[in-house]
Amino acid sequence: MAYRSIFRPDLFEGQVILVTGGGSGIGRCVAHELAALGARLVIAGRDPEKLARVADEIESEGYSVDTLCCNIRSEVEVAAMIEGVLALHGRLDGLVNNAGGQFHAPLADISAKGFEAVVSTNLTGGFIVMREAYRQWMQGHGGAIVNMSADIWMGLPGFAHSAASRAGMESLTQSAAAEWAGSGVRVNTVAPGMITSSGFDNYEGAGVDQIRAYPERVPAKRYGTVAEVSAAIVFLLSPAAAYITGSCLRVDGGSPNGRHGQALKQVKGLPAFDGFHLSSTPVLFEESNRT
Ligand code: ADE
Repeated sequence: MAYRSIFRPDLFEGQVILVTGGGSGIGRCVAHELAALGARLVIAGRDPEKLARVADEIESEGYSVDTLCCNIRSEVEVAAMIEGVLALHGRLDGLVNNAGGQFHAPLADISAKGFEAVVSTNLTGGFIVMREAYRQWMQGHGGAIVNMSADIWMGLPGFAHSAASRAGMESLTQSAAAEWAGSGVRVNTVAPGMITSSGFDNYEGAGVDQIRAYPERVPAKRYGTVAEVSAAIVFLLSPAAAYITGSCLRVDGGSPNGRHGQALKQVKGLPAFDGFHLSSTPVLFEESNRT
């Protein structure tokens, strides 16, 4: 079995692409797709075991990949990660600035520490990674950066801290697009809605309820697949997006457009694309756990 990408197999031949958060979820999927499209791939993250597992998967399919351990909240570690990529490959053409995380909590229960932890990973950490990629390589050679956002339009109850950090990332992306275009660097975001991934299994209680209620209020009437997000990231990294910078590509089944729930009653929804040959069903959706 191989990744069923819609893009041509040599799309990124000779290009070096770094995927942060490459050990699971969307990062793992896009790492597989980029490998299948000829990229010289580096995956980074905090957990060496997860990285090793994904590297094994990719290598067992005949591609090569390097792994680098990095906590993106540390400026020193991020600088070393980018130095590491350059030491390995001598260039850095694309950055999938994907590492991040959040936990479900009502706004009133979020401590300042918890809030700051999410912002410091998703926003400050993402900022440090893109800045370091720019300073150490892209400023002098151009490149493409894809930052991760979310379905934050009109807020994201239950994930207020994450939405605040992703909104910051939207603004940061727009500023960088303007400041860095002169160096040939494009900077965009991909904003996934609720995507079926192993990450679903990290939630409990109200978080699970929020996940289960999602398809009803979305025009597509379903969750997204990691392959659908990966395809958007790949497009934005590719030359086909040469005139796109400072933009956000929503991959959310029309979620913000489905606010008027009444109109969705008759909607059948949209069929899925799942090119990821290793995709799996979250435990949450296994037959025995359905409610
Ligand atoms: N994934 C989630 N949090 C992270 C962090 N601080 N550094 C790297 N990857 C992460």
